[in-house]
Amino acid sequence: MSKKNAAVLSAVLLLLLQVQTPAAEVEPPRTPDSTPRDIDLTAFALNLEYLEAEFFLFAAYGYGLDKQAPYLTGGGPPPIGGQKANLDPVVRDIVGQMGLQEVGHIRAIKRSIGPAAFPRPKLDISKATWAKIVDTALNTTLEPQFDPYANSINYMLASYAIPYVGLTGYVGANPQLVGKAAKKLVAGLLGVESGQDAIIRTWLYERKDEKVEPYGVTVALATDAISKLRNDLDHQGLTVLKKGPVPYVIDDEGLTVPRSLGAEKATTGNILSADADSLAYGRTPEQILSIIYSSGDPRKPGGFYPAGARGNIAETYHKYGPE
Ligand SMILES: *[C@@H]1O[C@H](CO)[C@@H](O)[C@H](O)[C@H]1NC(C)=O
Repeated sequence: MSKKNAAVLSAVLLLLLQVQTPAAEVEPPRTPDSTPRDIDLTAFALNLEYLEAEFFLFAAYGYGLDKQAPYLTGGGPPPIGGQKANLDPVVRDIVGQMGLQEVGHIRAIKRSIGPAAFPRPKLDISKATWAKIVDTALNTTLEPQFDPYANSINYMLASYAIPYVGLTGYVGANPQLVGKAAKKLVAGLLGVESGQDAIIRTWLYERKDEKVEPYGVTVALATDAISKLRNDLDHQGLTVLKKGPVPYVIDDEGLTVPRSLGAEKATTGNILSADADSLAYGRTPEQILSIIYSSGDPRKPGGFYPAGARGNIAETYHKYGPE
């Protein structure tokens, strides 16, 4: 299109717009920048971002927020059991970048919620805690204990468990948000957490038929088992809160699935975990707590959060503090 034609076209478009917009249009209703519920939901996510930051930073660099960004810890205790992982150079590079991304996420959340931000909760990212989770997922006692820090495959398998939980939390929180600022922040967080999840899943997918040594279990089977465990835990959490049976809903899928769960029921490969319309699954904070506590109960802390998670939502069920 010539410059002149383009100018004519935009003049016409402008005119059309003016005609269609009544001069005395009422201002659209203002939405607050954030409501108290927005702040609680965003603060809840801070718990997960702290966990991700520490787990990734330690694995890549051998230190966490206390060295990388001490101003973001709020004086919360250093995590239990973080350590540098034995990673190949590409994985170390990827994980290091993801750890640094989490630093930005924590800063953005803290800036957004101001005084509602809490210090880093007590986190347990030790080999022993991971070993327990993997044993439960595989319904066995692995010998030797599963060590997430031992090699790239183990580390990526452990990582498989983390951004995905954050992602489902953001999808679940989104429809409840009112304020523009909170929506913008959560969309930005969701975008990057989904990206991280896709990176981890793709890396594992390329190795899905390899064995997790020395256990003889394939990578695909291990992811399926971890996803099944998370489905069970969040279902259990809803059951205890409801004090009665609730339908079993799948919101977590491994790298291989029965065809009925694959995209358009047409594949058993499952590079991303998503529903029948290939939309991301969402979870409530209560479901997330049931998973990250490894207890299937938002009132019973444990797992990565030996003293519980922090903030109004988590502390409705368990007051943060002594184990
Ligand atoms: C777990 O393992 C035990 C003992 O081998 C077995 O009895 C039980 O059925 C298994 N549970 C599941 C859910 O597979």
